[in-house]
Amino acid sequence: MATTTYQGLEILFSRQQIAERVAEMGAQITHDLAGEKLVMIGVLKGAAPFLADLSRTIQVDATFDFVATSSYGKGQRSSGAVKLIKDLDHPIEGKNVLVVEDILDTGLTLSYLRKLFLQQHPKSLRIATLLDKPSRRIEKIEADYVGFSIPNLFVIGYGMDYAERYRNLPDICVMPPGAPE
Ligand code: IMP
Repeated sequence: MATTTYQGLEILFSRQQIAERVAEMGAQITHDLAGEKLVMIGVLKGAAPFLADLSRTIQVDATFDFVATSSYGKGQRSSGAVKLIKDLDHPIEGKNVLVVEDILDTGLTLSYLRKLFLQQHPKSLRIATLLDKPSRRIEKIEADYVGFSIPNLFVIGYGMDYAERYRNLPDICVMPPGAPE
C-alpha cells in the first residue's frame, strides 16, 4: 500500500523507519568507537536533522562541527564542481572524525571532503550517510555506515531539499520527476 503525506507525496521511509535505522547505526558507531572521543562533522544543510538524531543514539564523548559545500543549486541536477562555503571551526588533527552526510549520490562532495580532512591528519576518519545511491556514483567512495541504499530517485524531507524546500518533512519522500519548483 502506497503511503502519502499531507502534501500527496509518496513516503519512501517513514519517521519510524528512520528512527529505527538511525538507532541501529548509532549502536554500531558506539561499538566501533568505544572508549574514544569523536568529532561529528555535519555537512550543511541537509545532514542537520540526521546529525541531531544520530548523535543522540551514540554513547561516546562527542563534539560537533559543521562544513558547507556548494550544492545542487535550485533543481535536481548537480553542478559538478564542489566548493567549500563554510570551513571547520576547530582543527581535527589527531581526532576521530565522523563525517555525517544526508545522501551519498555521485560521491563528488564526500570525496572532496575526505581528501580535505585527511590533509589535516585526523586519528581516524569515518563516513556515515543516511542514504546511498550507488548507481549514481562518479567518484569511487563508500560510506562506513549507510542507513538505506536506494535506487536513482530524487528524495526530499528529513533535511533533504528540492530548491531549499521540504527539508522539514519528518518522513523521506519521493520528489516526482519534472515537478515545478
Ligand atoms: P554528491 O556530491 O553527488 O554525492 O551529492 C551529495 C549532495 O547532493 C547531498 O548532500 C545532497 O545535498 C544532494 N543530493 C543528492 N541527491 C539528492 C536527492 O535525491 N535529494 C536531495 N538532495 C540530493
